[in-house]
Amino acid sequence: MALHLVDHPLLHDIMARLRDRSTTSDDYRALTYRVSTFLVAEATRDLPTREEVVETPLERAGVRRLATRVVAVPVLRAGIGMLQAFVDLVPGTEVGYFGLERNEETAQARCYYEKVPKDLGQAVVFLLDPMLATGGSAAMAIAGLQARGARDVRLVAIVAAPEGVELLAQRAPGTEIFSAALDRGLNGRKYILPGLGDFGDRLYGT
Ligand code: PRP
Ligand code: URA
Repeated sequence: MALHLVDHPLLHDIMARLRDRSTTSDDYRALTYRVSTFLVAEATRDLPTREEVVETPLERAGVRRLATRVVAVPVLRAGIGMLQAFVDLVPGTEVGYFGLERNEETAQARCYYEKVPKDLGQAVVFLLDPMLATGGSAAMAIAGLQARGARDVRLVAIVAAPEGVELLAQRAPGTEIFSAALDRGLNGRKYILPGLGDFGDRLYGT
């Protein structure tokens, strides 16, 4: 399992605004879009391309086009905030959904909805979930993707906690994680510190 921490001055500025408790939900949504653009660009950096030729207005030109099936799977609710950036960047994306919710007392994830394409063996699958806290939600979603044949699974997370990274190293060792920050750890309620707070609540103003 590999953790890729994306490093860019513009990304740090976005993270500063996301972390700031006074940021409004409207701004939070726009910032989520922007940070996701950076992370998706990095997570897709090694996708295969095939050579083709097109006619420019002046002459023929050798070009390269994306040559793999790409599936994006946001985890409801919070992962929805990352989806638009993904489909805007990656042409031909198929989209599936997992609805997962942590129990407020136990922090155990429960699956309440799933609609994910089958036969994922030839696809590169991007799991979109902004918070990797205990890792229970991501581990559950990755197991669901693997049950559908997925072999290349990449988690795109805005903030990761060491506990979640460790859990995925044990339960889903082939997963690549792309994140903007590796934070200090979890508090007693399993929230990431310093973190972003409750991502879904801040995104949707609930
Ligand atoms: C958040 C987040 C992840 C999960 C991470 O979802 O979006 O899915 O917690 O925590 P974990 O790593 O400890 O499993 P939440 O359960 O708050 O649901 P929501 O997105 O509907 O608000
Ligand atoms: N889910 C969140 O929204 N935030 C955390 O810090 C942990 C889980």
